[in-house]
Amino acid sequence: MDLIKDIDILSTEEAQDSDFQTTPEGNTGKAKKVYIESYGCAMNFSDSEIVASIMKDNGYDTTSDMKKADVIFLNTCSIREKAEQTVRNRLNHFNGLKRNKPGMTIGILGCMAERLKEKLIEEEKIVDLVVGPDAYRDLPNLVATAEEGVKAINTFLSREETYGDISPVRLNSNGVSAFISIMRGCDNMCSFCVVPFTRGRERSRDPESILAEARDLVSKGYKEVTLLGQNVDSYKWSPEENNKARLNKKEEEVSTVVNFAHLLEQVALVSPQLRVRFSTSHPKDITDEVLHTIKKYDNICKSIHLPAQSGNDRVLELMNRTYTRAWYLDRVRAIREILGEECGISSDMIAGFCSETEAEHQDTLSLMEFVKFDFSYMYFYSERPGTLAAKKYPDDIPLDTKKSRLAEIIDKQSELSLERNRLDVGKEQVILIDGASKKSGDELRGRNSANKVVIVTSEGLQQGDYVRVKITGSSRGTLFGSIQEINPSNIA
Ligand code: SAM
Ligand code: SF4
Ligand code: F3S
Repeated sequence: MDLIKDIDILSTEEAQDSDFQTTPEGNTGKAKKVYIESYGCAMNFSDSEIVASIMKDNGYDTTSDMKKADVIFLNTCSIREKAEQTVRNRLNHFNGLKRNKPGMTIGILGCMAERLKEKLIEEEKIVDLVVGPDAYRDLPNLVATAEEGVKAINTFLSREETYGDISPVRLNSNGVSAFISIMRGCDNMCSFCVVPFTRGRERSRDPESILAEARDLVSKGYKEVTLLGQNVDSYKWSPEENNKARLNKKEEEVSTVVNFAHLLEQVALVSPQLRVRFSTSHPKDITDEVLHTIKKYDNICKSIHLPAQSGNDRVLELMNRTYTRAWYLDRVRAIREILGEECGISSDMIAGFCSETEAEHQDTLSLMEFVKFDFSYMYFYSERPGTLAAKKYPDDIPLDTKKSRLAEIIDKQSELSLERNRLDVGKEQVILIDGASKKSGDELRGRNSANKVVIVTSEGLQQGDYVRVKITGSSRGTLFGSIQEINPSNIA
């Protein structure tokens, strides 16, 4: 779920939990302005695009200038303590703003709103409204209530809401890549994780609305979509379960169940020029059928985010991940067998989970070494109130030990990224240009199928071009390429 990050940053808690995105200037002539700051994962960023759409339909343009805003929303994350602390610090910052503009409404949306509910209103005096991830359709009413000086709250979690009919307002988009949420919630109960409590039960979005969104993006010139869910492999849509109204349709239509492999195929068929990515895959659920579908279509990227979390069986069991090290390695074997060595494999890792021994930590390092991940998002364990782990296991690894284990995991990943990137040198790959290089105005950056950043000279190129490049150099986080062909007919 952390696709917004550049892979040249070996991402850790420090970097991730304080990063946020803001809204651009809307300028469609609406009377009022909303400013949204979004924290957390790609699903939260995608939700802010739904929120912007709902607000737009109710008379609000987005603004990039919080001082101009009538309404400020913080779309928050609860995944680690640091993420929540960042939001609380931000609220202090908004205090002064509100003093100068008392009519301004300040709302907390997202996972922290869902977790803390009315407590947020009690604890943070400047908060006017608190709205959970499934209650965004109610925002216009809640904002109106808050404008009358009454604190407003809706943290109802739904079993059906997917916002499937809402056309997102693309925020911070480069016009090349966009997220499409294909499901919401999570039914896995990983013992460390707050998401099942903040996002509710898992539900899949109607495939027709997903395909309509993909077609619309293609018609607007987008070249890449990323299908988002906490566990995309458990995507499942059947008219019986998801839309009773459709039962009036013919027998063969109602009995069709769409799984993730089917959905992936249908999105790939929208246009051969549209790259398709997805995240996150769960090791217990990823099927060979999905891997064969990825292989079948040149426009499905060969890149799988498959969080391992730990390399030790006892810790995996305590984490309630429901797979073993051997199972995980078997899935990696299947990926290598079906998609080959060049398929990118990335992971999330947690250092210092409850009662983890030094030997068990070494198992995580050895798993990393064995798989040779291209990159990882790495964190130390942060106890979250209400989770299974918080109830059952003492958070007994000293902070210093957590940090030193995390540092070893980061060092290992750094070594592996360098090693994996070196293997690309001399190869020809197709990249999609998605922005300017951070370092030089004469260079652009793109991504290859495995989701690695490739830097090329900008001459003759523009954002959204596919380019066949020869990889001429590599560093830990970046590849360097020389242009061979612009917009080749085959984008594999
Ligand atoms: N659904 C995805 C999965 O199962 O892999 C991950 C979703 S979670 C938003 C992203 C990552 O945050 C997790 O993979 C895990 O590594 C990390 N994470 C979750 N809870 C955590 C906690 N309590 N402390 C530290 N890291 C945590
Ligand atoms: Fe959290 Fe596990 Fe669900 Fe991922 S699969 S969101 S880690 S409970
Ligand atoms: Fe995402 Fe954070 Fe919520 S990672 S699902 S915004 S707890």
